[in-house]
Formats: sequence, structure tokens, C-alpha cells
Amino acid sequence: MCGIVGYIGKKEKKTFLLNGLKELEYRGYDSAGIAVLHQNEINYFKAAGKLENLVNKTKDFSSNGFGLGIAHTRWATHGKPTEINAHPHWGAFSLVIHNGIIENYMEIKKELQEDGVEFVSQTDTEIIVHLFEKFIALDFEPHVAFEKTIQSLHGAYAILLISKVAPDTIFFAKNAVPLILGRNSESELFFGSSDAPLIGFAQEVSYLEDGTYGWASEKEIALFHHDEKIKPNFKPLNSSKIYAQKDGYRFFMEKEIYEQSSVVSETLMGRIKDDVVFLEELKDYDFNTIDEIKICACGTSYHAALTASYLIERLAKIRCSVEIASEFRYKEPLLDTKTLFLVISQSGETADTLEALKMAKKAGLKTLSVCNVDNSSIVRVSDATILTRAGIEKGVASTKAFATQVLTLWLLALYVAKAKNTLEEAHYEAEIKALRAIPTVLKVDERVHEKLHRLSKRYLHGHGFFFIGRDIFFPLALEGALKLKEISYLHAEGYPSGEMKHGPIALADSNLFTIALMPRTLLYEKTKSNVEELSARDATILAISPQEFELADDFIKTKVYTHPMCEFFEMMVITQLLALEVSIRLGNDVDMPRNLAKSVTVE
Ligand code: F6R
Repeated sequence: MCGIVGYIGKKEKKTFLLNGLKELEYRGYDSAGIAVLHQNEINYFKAAGKLENLVNKTKDFSSNGFGLGIAHTRWATHGKPTEINAHPHWGAFSLVIHNGIIENYMEIKKELQEDGVEFVSQTDTEIIVHLFEKFIALDFEPHVAFEKTIQSLHGAYAILLISKVAPDTIFFAKNAVPLILGRNSESELFFGSSDAPLIGFAQEVSYLEDGTYGWASEKEIALFHHDEKIKPNFKPLNSSKIYAQKDGYRFFMEKEIYEQSSVVSETLMGRIKDDVVFLEELKDYDFNTIDEIKICACGTSYHAALTASYLIERLAKIRCSVEIASEFRYKEPLLDTKTLFLVISQSGETADTLEALKMAKKAGLKTLSVCNVDNSSIVRVSDATILTRAGIEKGVASTKAFATQVLTLWLLALYVAKAKNTLEEAHYEAEIKALRAIPTVLKVDERVHEKLHRLSKRYLHGHGFFFIGRDIFFPLALEGALKLKEISYLHAEGYPSGEMKHGPIALADSNLFTIALMPRTLLYEKTKSNVEELSARDATILAISPQEFELADDFIKTKVYTHPMCEFFEMMVITQLLALEVSIRLGNDVDMPRNLAKSVTVE
């Protein structure tokens, strides 16, 4: 995902900007650029590929004395990852960098072209700088020109713009994409896509709200929310990198649970166009010639795969099978070239998944991966990859990676459904509406978190946990149990609710804890009967449901949704928080549980 850095002050700008981009490397990028405005002269440099290429290009450049600088790492959405498409984009006397997607850029571009503007890049970003300069040419003050520019844009953006018409000012805007403003006692000002580049430089930061824009110089910071002037809400920035990287949360896992809402917005970005799922990565795949999708993965990624198998069969009407990679490798599987082989991996380095992928490729199957780490081994081996864009996941217990995997796989199922025309229009529309709602669904409700904190003290002992659910809530039950066992070291199993009476119910007594996933939109009555059977045998029940359930010993009430995936994602957050709170009470190292590694590169 793109990264933004900005600076106003007297220090060497190039060094701060390049180091800042380095801090944002984890977001993923395929080109980079910087621009410095100093003594009314603008210098800019861009390079495709790794930051090193940009560092080499700028090695003879320095910029001491008061000035402005902006810098960007680009992760291509509109147009190829070339130097021309890298940011900053320039007009006659201004430059802009942008993270996000301008949805109405084609309309604006057409109007500007009719006015005689020539575009050099294929990006949506370039329209911003030309639009600004158009308003300047119409004699608007720079501030008004910027305001008018922002008012013309629809979409998601974090923008920094500099111009010779206001050589001491950085213009900025933020909507649905992170942008942070920082300052210190030496009157230096900083911008960043996250805290990371600002640590050690800014003493205070303001996390800008959606719908804000303004301009900043040594003399003033003017901030507006829509049209109203507001005060930036500055908070101290801890100078410890680790603390700041945790954004004040106690553990990376907690931070990663909380950031799922914004992270999935990145997963969705540019992938729904005119209410249709658009996955550029799949343009060479003909789904009408594919008979089956076989998915292979390990651990949490396997649970995402199981969830996908329900979605793919139900929405895209393609047979879908799922295998644990370490089992698949040695079972002498029968492979058919009409099968699409899909692997899922957060790290892209899991040895068993990688080897399974290589086997499928050798057998002549078309391959695809859903992965979080670009350029990882799995990405390099597979024919195509849909990146999940979760950003670096530091907690060993996977949370946001799982959320983005499931969301990406749901997008895939809908993409195939469209290609094969398997869904009625109204059904497809309902799916898109639900997809768009997921960032909101994932916002953590602090009251629910507090309740889970209180409840967790009752779940620190016992002889085991059963997480139970049906349909897509069965893989979610598996995932909930895995989260709990990984970080609490308590025994937990995920089970299909209907399967309990075929054996495991023998374990039921008051020391058996059942976490019952009871969504309203899928098989509620059937799940309820299964939970009643357990309750009748004295099992302790923690029910998670939007419907009151009187046999529950503990109850977490969820919101009423009409789409099962909304219920899925809300319950996912609850199971993650439950595991977190139990682990904290037990005094465990939440982020680095014993015996586990983040990337499993051995079989
Ligand atoms: C659990 C967890 C692991 C991984 C598994 C596969 O929280 O993180 O179960 O899901 O090791 O790793 P990836 O997805 O990197 O292939």
C-alpha cells in the first residue's frame, strides 16, 4: 500500500524523507519518489522498484535550509509500476503525492483534457495537481484553489501538495486513508501515513479525521472538517519505537485486532467498481473452463480456506475442496488440469504450502495464491496472486491476516460468480452491499471488549473449550479455538455444532466451556438445539448471538445483521478479544507465545 511522508523545516530534507519511506516499506510498494521545494526551486526524483534505486538517484542532492519536502512509495492501482506513474506528479509549478483512489478521476481528466491539459501518467493522482493549477489560473488564492480541488474529488485519499505559488506551505487532505500530522518545539512539521517515520522527530501528533483538509506552514496550521475550521487534536508521541508502533495498545495482537476495520478498507480498495467486483489479477483466468477449485493452506490460512469453500460453492457454483498442505503433499493426490489450485498464506513462505503449490504446478494445474507478502516465495511461484494488503502482522497469532484473507476470498467467489453468471442481480447487489459494510462491522465496540475482559476471569481453568458453529461459523469456530489455544495454552477445539452428539458430548460437564456461535442469519434454530443438548448436560455456555438465549451462562449480544458475513466478522472479533483477554489474565506473552514462529519455513 502506498506510503506518504512530508516535512517542513530547516533540516536536510532528503535524509528525513528517505528514512521515512524506509519506515513505511512494510506497507509494500513498487516505486518511490521525493520532491523538495527550497528557495522557490523544486527538485524531484522518482524511481521504479526498490527504495535503493531512489537513494542512488538522489545521492548528489542535498537541501539544507528552510524548505518543504514530500515523499511517496507507490503500490500500483491505476497504471503500471513505472517511473512515470511513480509519485510525485507535477503540473507547471506544483507537485502532488496521493494514497488511495479517486473514483471520479476519469470525468475530471476528460474535462481537463478538453481544456488542453496533457497527462503524462496513467494514474488517477495526476488530475489533482492539474485541477489545482486550473483553479490558480482562474485567479483563486492557493488556499481556495486547494479547497476547490478537494471538494471536486470523490473517493479515498491522503494527499500532500506543494506549489511555488505558496512556497512555505504543504496542502493536505485526508479521507478514508491514514494521514498523521506531527510537530515539535523547533517548529518543524511532519506528515506520515503512520507514526513510524515520525518517531524520534515529532513530539506530538494529530491523527487526522476523515473529511479533513488544510494547509500547514511554520506560521500556521489551518485545519478544516468539511467546511468548518477545527483545531488539530495533538497528542504526545512516545519516542520509543516499539511503544509507538503499538499505537498505545498493550500488545501488537490487540492493535492488529483494532486496526482490522481500516485494514480491510485497503483490501477492498479499487476492487469494487460500479458495484461489481474487479480483480485485475484474474484477467487471464477463464472460470468457465475450470471444474473445481482446490485450496491448500496451513493453520489460520486453512480456516480461511474452509470458509472460502462454503462461499465459492454457494456463490460461484464451482466445486471446491480444501486440504491441509502437509497432508496433501504426501497423499499422492489425483490432480486434474481443469482444477484451479489456490494456496493461501499470510507469510508466503510456509514450507508445506509452497511445496504443495510446486506439486500442483508440476502437474500442469493453473495456480493462484492469496497472500499478504508481495515477492514472497509463494507469490513468485504462483501464476497470479491476489494480495490481501493486511500490512505487517507482528502478533504471532494471526488476526488481521485472517480477516483480510476471508474478505479477499469472498471477493474471489463474487468475481467468479459474475464471470459464470451464477447469481441473480438482487443477490449480487446484496453481497456487494454487505462487502462494503465490513469495515464498519469490524470496528471494535469498546463495551464488548470491556465485557469480555470481565468475563475472561471465569475462563481460566476447566478441562477444555469447545467452540461450535455451523456452516461458515464452523471454520470460524476452528479459528476461535486455535486463537485461544495458541496464546492461552488451554486446550480448545473447534467443532461443527451438529457433530457434538457423535462423541465429544461425552466430555460435557460444568468444567467444559462451550463458546457457541449462534448467528441469526444461518441455521439459528439448528445451532440452538445443539447448544441446548450441551446445556442439558451441564456444560458451561458462553453464547455469542444477536438473539437472547436463556440457557446461556454468559452472553455476548451481537448486532442484528441481514447478511451472514457481517455476523461472521463481528463474531470473529469477539473470539479474538476473548483469546486476548484470557491470555493476558494468565500472564502469557501474547505476541510471542511459546513454541511458535511467525513464518514456518520448515515442513
Ligand atoms: C495462527 C497462525 C498460523 C499460520 C500458519 C500458516 O495464528 O498464524 O496457524 O496461519 O502457520 O502461515 P501462513 O499463513 O503464513 O502460510
